[in-house]
Amino acid sequence: MSKINIAIDGPAGAGKSTIAKKIAKALEIIYVDTGAMYRAFGLYCIRNQIALDEKSLIDILDDIHIGIRFENGEQQVILNNEVVNAFIRDEAVGKMASKVSAFKQVRLKLVNLQQKLAEKKSVVMDGRDIGTYVLPHADLKIYLTASVDVRAKRRFDQLQRKGIHQEYEAIKEDITKRDYRDMNRAFAPLKKADGAVEIDTSVLTIDEVVDKILQLIKTL
Ligand code: C5P
Repeated sequence: MSKINIAIDGPAGAGKSTIAKKIAKALEIIYVDTGAMYRAFGLYCIRNQIALDEKSLIDILDDIHIGIRFENGEQQVILNNEVVNAFIRDEAVGKMASKVSAFKQVRLKLVNLQQKLAEKKSVVMDGRDIGTYVLPHADLKIYLTASVDVRAKRRFDQLQRKGIHQEYEAIKEDITKRDYRDMNRAFAPLKKADGAVEIDTSVLTIDEVVDKILQLIKTL
């Protein structure tokens, strides 16, 4: 197969980015993290104190230029000529990304960029609507899940490792709210795509999941 597109969707903390990165490395193709694009958009809104209503967001669409480039295989997200990787992982930015991503016009702008990337290159792309909306003809669609407790625990451990203490219950509540927003928005909500293979990562190691997906790719 000359060009391959792999779509990986699922809720926050299901392991998408870790797994997608490993698959991309094994196949020597690029990994596109679409959540980072919504985060860059959210960062712009925080920095410029943009109100979260449709009119305010539509008004700024032309002022926001998001791009990505790859350096040593790592995705760099560019917001209006600035590499913003160092700023988009904050909890506040994640929360804002989750809110702005509910707006159709915001999504259409970023989906356009995502589709262009996949048109030109082989990609492993992860997000919430990749198999259902961005790349409905992807060669392989994966839907990664894990229980909310497992996902909250992973996030808790990840923050602890960074020396950040946040209550487990608060993390769980935040994840539950994000899931609700992602699954219930009117436009391109998070759901398992037709033909997607569902993998529950709660009881599997990362390498087990990666192996499973690589096996599926071999059958294409
Ligand atoms: O995956 P990540 O947590 O970085 O994504 C940040 C937020 O962006 C998510 O909570 C989700 O609401 C939104 N998102 C989306 N569609 C995508 C990727 C991310 O709505 N394809």
